[in-house]
Amino acid sequence: MKYNMKKLVIAISVAAFLSACCNEEKVPVYRQADRPVCDRVEDLLDRMTFEEKVLQLNQYIIGLNTNVNNIGEEIKDVPGGIGSVIYFSDNVELRNELQRKAMEETRLGIPVLFGFDVIHGFRTVYPIPLAQGCSWNPELVTELCSVAAREARLSGTDWTFAPMIDVSRDGRWGRVAECFGEDPYANSVMGVASVNGYQGDDLYNTDKVAACLKHFVGYGMSQGGRDYTATDISMQSMWDTYLPPYKACIEAGAETVMSAFNDINGVPATANHLFLTEILKEKWGHKGFVVSDWNAVEQLIPQGYAADRKEAALKAFTAGVEMDMKDNCYREYFEELLNEGKITERQVDEAVARILSLKFRLGLFEKPYTEPLPESERILTADAYAAAERLAEESMVLLKNDGILPLGNPGRIAVIGPMAKDKFNIVGSWRCHGNAKDAQSIYEGLEAEFGSPALNYAPGCDFDGTDRSGFALAKAAALKSDVIVLCLGEKSAWSGENASRSTLALPSIQEELAAELASTGKPMVLVLSNGRPLELNRLAPMADAVLEAWQPGMKGGSPVAGILSGRVNPSGKLCITFPWSTGQVPIFYNSRQSSRPDQGQYQEIPSGPMYEFGHGLSYSEFVYSDLKADSEDITKGRDFKVQVSVTNSSDRDGYETVLWYVTDPFCSVTRPVKELRHFEKKFIKAGATEIFTFDVNPEKDLAYVDSEGNPLLESGEYRISVNEQTLKFNLK
Ligand code: BGC
Repeated sequence: MKYNMKKLVIAISVAAFLSACCNEEKVPVYRQADRPVCDRVEDLLDRMTFEEKVLQLNQYIIGLNTNVNNIGEEIKDVPGGIGSVIYFSDNVELRNELQRKAMEETRLGIPVLFGFDVIHGFRTVYPIPLAQGCSWNPELVTELCSVAAREARLSGTDWTFAPMIDVSRDGRWGRVAECFGEDPYANSVMGVASVNGYQGDDLYNTDKVAACLKHFVGYGMSQGGRDYTATDISMQSMWDTYLPPYKACIEAGAETVMSAFNDINGVPATANHLFLTEILKEKWGHKGFVVSDWNAVEQLIPQGYAADRKEAALKAFTAGVEMDMKDNCYREYFEELLNEGKITERQVDEAVARILSLKFRLGLFEKPYTEPLPESERILTADAYAAAERLAEESMVLLKNDGILPLGNPGRIAVIGPMAKDKFNIVGSWRCHGNAKDAQSIYEGLEAEFGSPALNYAPGCDFDGTDRSGFALAKAAALKSDVIVLCLGEKSAWSGENASRSTLALPSIQEELAAELASTGKPMVLVLSNGRPLELNRLAPMADAVLEAWQPGMKGGSPVAGILSGRVNPSGKLCITFPWSTGQVPIFYNSRQSSRPDQGQYQEIPSGPMYEFGHGLSYSEFVYSDLKADSEDITKGRDFKVQVSVTNSSDRDGYETVLWYVTDPFCSVTRPVKELRHFEKKFIKAGATEIFTFDVNPEKDLAYVDSEGNPLLESGEYRISVNEQTLKFNLK
């Protein structure tokens, strides 16, 4: 019996071994989840025909495109072997239907990658990136991006075309709303925070999405704020200003990059070998892939860089664009280009490998389908709303306060203006699947805060136009109130792609309404919701306080009301300069020094900004003192610490953000007047003091980059400043 048992065990083991071997033969390597991704990619590539490979390099669209710039027919029929689609739907059935076609009706069953623009939330929309930049709270940005990733992935999207980290110094450009402001370091930190939130530690999780850095590179330098224009950017500015956020996000592991629409110094970004291959892939070692922007391959023709679609395909591909978004140029011409010897199969293999590798790491081969979940488990959950509200609170910037705020118990409030009851525009541009019905208006927030009997509402006027017929009612509401809350701003469609404006001023009808109300002599709080810095030199003097609420997404009403009542202590600081007048644009804090710093000013307007970068008021008083370094002796290759004490001398607890700037006053390449190199936000209890620290690594924090992209650190004087205080060092 004992002997028999042993024989049986051996027999079973041999059978198991044989069956494992046979299975191994039957299950191709690329289908084995436990094999390294590189082996799976190699195995799959070996099995693919040229045509199958080329399909992987194309992205089509599916669903109804709601982007007004790219509007089109609803598309349902897409070949199963396609590499990727832009997924305009949040209906998982549509995804699963196409995925089933890819998995079951194609020879190799390669899953499709579903991408979409999840810019500031999927369904729970939170503040626009420009507002996020003003929160100086990267942890919170990570939290919200991870909410967006979860909602997106559970709704069938694997890949977001975000973050946009195009430094922009021109508020006329509609897309300024999508970036984190005018500073390269702020865009780097917030970009990395977003990538971390979208991708997490492991993309294989079913609640994470791949990120896409866009638009590579220099798109934010659009001439005169007009979209899609050519850009002239010196290599020094590229290294100093436009490239750093991309480098930081690549180092943080961003999976993909989108090539930009702009021409860079004579070579369109989408066919620019220097940036797409030499810098991104060879110098920085990016292992992911580049997707072109919408129609950007074909647009090489109007840009004057390719004579036809075939040449456009050749130039974009050989420059380093692996995936052709929507144009179908790659699919149409690669066979011919191969036969003519203009591209090689090896080049195609390398490009396909990058795309397949992401699909494996996303777990799409094992989990190609999206499980249909009830809405309540997928979107608009209570924790998502709560996080969106917190970010909105922290991103709003109190620009002016003559002492009227917080209102405390204000008596009757006249709530006036086109933005007061608006639930559509306040959500912001690029709202993904955000729906106005889920949003909260400023009025609703005020109602919940102060009670509806305290409010007298009148719209006053529309966002634009010339109709003053509502002025009388608005004035009457003001006259029977103790304080006016005037809610002005921009339509959401005035921001975003192809939404440039020649002026940063609000339409004159809104300024006229403000003047009419100011004539009542009642105290007035101006609340603004917009997607760009505004020209406020006429409006701000009419108001006793000005709160910049930006486009806060779904939860804007409560944060505005909380700041007005005093329940919330404002803590946002500007990540972009508000000029005194549009004529000053571009105006930004980190420009290079002029040869005559005291001259060259405008003759008829102030030359400085109306509200500078970093400006933002609080209800607390913060006193900075004791700025010091831990060493007098500063040398290359040795880190040192700089600290400042910040005391909350008021009786209100509050958040303070310390912005640390570096100045290199004399250098072989002239440097900006000052450059942000570190920031930190802390909660400081009333009466308490907190120490803020900047751990300085000279090679990282003091060095600059030459026009070849090489870091250089010169000996000599450096200055580190916070607030009004400065420390001088001599670096040896
Ligand atoms: C925009 C991109 C966007 C793409 C796909 C383009 O028009 O420039 O930012 O990701 O469309 O929607």
